[in-house]
Amino acid sequence: MSKGKLEKFAALETFKNVFQYPFSVISEVAFDMKGKWREQYFHNDNPIVLELGCGKGEYTVGLAREYPNINFIGVDIKGARIYTGAKQALEEGLDNVAFLRTSIEIIDRFFGKDEVQEIWLTFSDPQMKNVHKRLTSTFFMDRYKRFMVDGGIVHLKTDSNFLFTYTTYMIKVNKLPILYRTENLYSNDLDEAAKANVKIDEKTREILGIHTYYENQWIERGLNIKYMKFNLPHKTSLVEPNIEIKLDDYRSYKRPKRSGLDKSK
Ligand SMILES: C[S@@+](CC[C@H](N)C(=O)[O-])C[C@H]1O[C@@H](n2cnc3c(N)ncnc32)[C@H](O)[C@@H]1O
Repeated sequence: MSKGKLEKFAALETFKNVFQYPFSVISEVAFDMKGKWREQYFHNDNPIVLELGCGKGEYTVGLAREYPNINFIGVDIKGARIYTGAKQALEEGLDNVAFLRTSIEIIDRFFGKDEVQEIWLTFSDPQMKNVHKRLTSTFFMDRYKRFMVDGGIVHLKTDSNFLFTYTTYMIKVNKLPILYRTENLYSNDLDEAAKANVKIDEKTREILGIHTYYENQWIERGLNIKYMKFNLPHKTSLVEPNIEIKLDDYRSYKRPKRSGLDKSK
């Protein structure tokens, strides 16, 4: 491991806004703050918003600056990435920010019933070969429902046509209420904008204009950025869509294709 990474890991141990519970830890020690983040960490009654797969935490920190009366928690398994956002939040004195280092597969071990209002999924890996690893699959939605308020909002911002199409079908087959959807967030084309069912207000546009590390790489390659938000009601019993979706071929760029397939479910 590089010296830089080791230094970041050592620093993370001292950051008061970082909680490190990879599977090896949580299988030994229970997470005492489950259901008590507001009372024990944030010391307020404000809503809680998660960014899952936050990487360097650009959304977690950017949203926290804009909304001091909302609490934000960035979640990722990679400590060296979390370090960037956590350090920035500490330097700026943002006390409405925390970071949790863990696997999203076990995210429901960290939050109690109705504890979370919204989830942001920013440039999540589309996981084209494995639906159970896809962060918008019904496998994950069922986990999110355990700790989100009824009808909580899920935001998805992505470069991936595969993930966006899959999520659109997942929403459609389960009749989840869609609040906004655009296949080209930064288009100035009026026809494109008119296709959107609701207009985005200035504040939301500013928020959506926060670019993450991965987003910048996809924009440099000339890819459209897609965005949608939808509600996740408790009462819905979710089913997986049964549909073949064309793979994103640019994602195997400079890497050998691992299978001959060009579509997946
Ligand atoms: C493609 S990166 C995007 C990072 C950031 N949101 C951005 O846009 O720059 C995906 C991130 O999700 C994290 N991630 C993927 N699957 C995860 C999982 N199951 N549990 C925890 N983190 C995960 C990775 O470590 C990585 O930082």
